[in-house]
Amino acid sequence: MSKDIVQIFDTTLRDGEQVPGCKLDTTQKLVIAERLETMGVDIIEAGFPISSPGDFKSVNEIAKLVKNATVCGLTRAVKKDIEVAAEALKPAVRPRIHTGIGTSESHIKHKFNSNKDAIIERAVAAVSHAKNYVDDVEFYAEDAGRTDNEFLAQVCEAVIKAGATVLNIPDTTGYCLPSEYGAKIKYLRDNVKDIDKAVLSCHCHNDLGLATANSIAGAINGARQIECTINGIGERAGNTSLEEVVMVMRQHPSLNIDTNIDSRLLYSTSQMVSQKMGMLVQPNKAIVGSNAFAHSSGIHQDGVIKNRETYEIINPEDVGVNESSIVLTARSGRAALAYRAKKVGYDLTKLQLDEVYQEFLKYADRKKEVIDADIHDIISSSKVNIQSVA
Ligand code: KIV
Ligand code: ZN
Repeated sequence: MSKDIVQIFDTTLRDGEQVPGCKLDTTQKLVIAERLETMGVDIIEAGFPISSPGDFKSVNEIAKLVKNATVCGLTRAVKKDIEVAAEALKPAVRPRIHTGIGTSESHIKHKFNSNKDAIIERAVAAVSHAKNYVDDVEFYAEDAGRTDNEFLAQVCEAVIKAGATVLNIPDTTGYCLPSEYGAKIKYLRDNVKDIDKAVLSCHCHNDLGLATANSIAGAINGARQIECTINGIGERAGNTSLEEVVMVMRQHPSLNIDTNIDSRLLYSTSQMVSQKMGMLVQPNKAIVGSNAFAHSSGIHQDGVIKNRETYEIINPEDVGVNESSIVLTARSGRAALAYRAKKVGYDLTKLQLDEVYQEFLKYADRKKEVIDADIHDIISSSKVNIQSVA
């Protein structure tokens, strides 16, 4: 049975770029956009055109460059925003305007000092106005995660009628539990008239570390677009991480959903974005962190050397990492030492290994990590005859 495709909407250049101190210039954004397209991203959110002349220019240049992916620009539910976005997106082969408004009690009362009817009116007016410029209009119900489902369904129904092609259901504050977020998507599928005329989209923030789980719960319940960023960067604790949702779907064929992403480009893309934004990837980051395929305890190393799958659920080559690494520390065992020694040219017999291992432990207790150059030193200072092991 063929799998359903979940579209990947990358917002590294918009929501991701909202990280303090991580501003990118137009040239850097173009390089990243080109890479996202090559990797198979379906929709690139290129920026928020009305926010600054620089952002307008970036969206406009990306719209000229990108040929296969949809190029999207963000707006508020404000006429002028929509007109400026439409202008920036003019050269795009597949332009999309992303417009919307807050729908939770808190947004309606405190942000807009408004009421539910007026919010629906503004939402419909924004979508209708955007439809004058492009066919593809995505509507976001900001803070949908904390919006009452019944009202959210009313908003969705109204904007579908006005021509929205995609309904973005953001968990703006990262509050929802996966079961709750999944149930919200299911509620909309079951209760919104003409829901099949639009694609439901997950846009989850990571304040409780649940962004990936929530997005996957949304997809399991029928969402067919996930909004995410490279390395999960974004406001506060960030957005859903692109590499994580892609690999969750790929590693779990029973879900029957997949993406168009070439996963072999995940690691290099993560590195590219990290370098351009000057934002380090945490070493234990799933999929792309420097420790994601590194094994350092003796028990794990022995298992991985015997069979990689003992402690790895992903083949590192599938995400563009050359191979798993066996890190030598004072917690490593003989199997790891023999493995690494062999890689640098020493095929140790069991007796030789026993000798060298004692020397290695003394060395490793002094040093956090033993590297290839150290292995030569350790072997020379052990009692083993170097001639017989080289
Ligand atoms: O988190 C959010 O609600 C957003 C919207 C503007 C789409 O980023
Ligand atoms: Zn967001």
